[in-house]
Amino acid sequence: MFSLIPKAICSLGQAVQNVRCIASLSALPETYQMMYKTCRDFAENELKPNAAVYDREHKYPGDAIKKMGELGLMSIFTPENLGGTGLDYLAYAIALEEISRGCASAGVIMSVNNSLYLGPLINWGTDKQKQAYITPFCTGDVGCFALSEPGNGSDAGAASTTAKDGGDKWILNGTKCWITNGYESKASVVFATTDKSLKHKGISAFIVPKPTKGLELGKKEDKLGIRGSSTCSLIFEDCEIPKENILGEPGMGFKIAMMTLDGGRIGIAAQALGIAQASLDVAVEYASKRTAFGKPISKLQTIQNKLANMAMQLESARLLTWRAAWLKDNKQGYTKEAAMAKLAASEAATFVSHQCIQILGGMGYVSDMPAERHYRDARITEIYEGTSEIQRLVIANQIIKEYGV
Ligand code: CAA
Repeated sequence: MFSLIPKAICSLGQAVQNVRCIASLSALPETYQMMYKTCRDFAENELKPNAAVYDREHKYPGDAIKKMGELGLMSIFTPENLGGTGLDYLAYAIALEEISRGCASAGVIMSVNNSLYLGPLINWGTDKQKQAYITPFCTGDVGCFALSEPGNGSDAGAASTTAKDGGDKWILNGTKCWITNGYESKASVVFATTDKSLKHKGISAFIVPKPTKGLELGKKEDKLGIRGSSTCSLIFEDCEIPKENILGEPGMGFKIAMMTLDGGRIGIAAQALGIAQASLDVAVEYASKRTAFGKPISKLQTIQNKLANMAMQLESARLLTWRAAWLKDNKQGYTKEAAMAKLAASEAATFVSHQCIQILGGMGYVSDMPAERHYRDARITEIYEGTSEIQRLVIANQIIKEYGV
């Protein structure tokens, strides 16, 4: 599908201002460079001009997401025979960074659909499930991933939503919260326990289409950032789904969630890189135009120190992200590397967007400039798909395992 991306989008575009990104990409095969340019042009033309409106009006960027589906961006690593684009995780990371640079809300919508919804269906779905729940979600319908609950977020194994065996059906009861894409999703991967005494080994994964009787949505959360994406609770009250809607084997749910989140964290790392890059772009542009003490502030060492630190954090996080994607693409272990990528990139986004506001001064604090939006958007990347504290825990556990002590 990707090869069908209109040539016009690849060649038209605006002048690529950021020589850095092109330079590091130039070592990669042409497919990645094309993906980068397609996403960059799309972000410049369709997302960046509207991102402030999506944010201010809490508006789901439905038209943009549909176009992203047509461009193959909503299913980048889904196999072509299922309707996806058939590329890999590195292409996904590159694309997601550029989309998020234009609009972090579009970035998370894309990330959740690709990694958290389609990811587990690709890996554990039956042929029938794949036909029903993957193909329509490659071109603009979105899915979601329901793991967290009001009583457990970081402790994902403590899920208390239940799935009761009802003969030819499963009956779900409980509440899932903080669900990205909850409002617009046409289906969700839901984690529920069939036997709480088994702790994480009692958790299974289920596919729940929407609408389904017994599934209601909670209120749309009023968030600090990524306000173009919806976040809400999914409330299950005697919600019946067909027996065949279990994903993988009974009791496999926790592993499915953990392995899916390993991939998802690369996506959030890429989203954070996009926010950080957008902040650096704003900071450099402003610093080269704004004068103080008789010269552009970009010539002042204080500002130069900031720009250097911002660029260094961003680029080191990008290398970690690309490494994690490369390991995944090459079927090597990447749990630790994905956690490192997410941790470094989200902290880079927080730092770079903070420093951007500092460089802009008062102009950074008002919504006339995008800096304050980037700062608000950055904050969630240290929270969802595992907080920074959880990433450190994952990294430390993996290191201890590697040492074999
Ligand atoms: N891959 C495969 N298996 C894994 C795994 C991984 N990455 N991590 C753990 N496991 C397995 C372990 O091997 C173990 O298996 P056995 O039972 O066979 O021994 C089992 O899972 C339990 O492992 P732990 O004892 O390490 O599990 P734990 O209960 O201590 O929890 C945790 C580990 C890392 C803290 C985990 O709970 C976690 O990642 N928490 C964060 C949850 C999270 O990221 N939530 C995000 C919500 S989704 C979201 O934000 C989406 C959105 O809308 C954007």
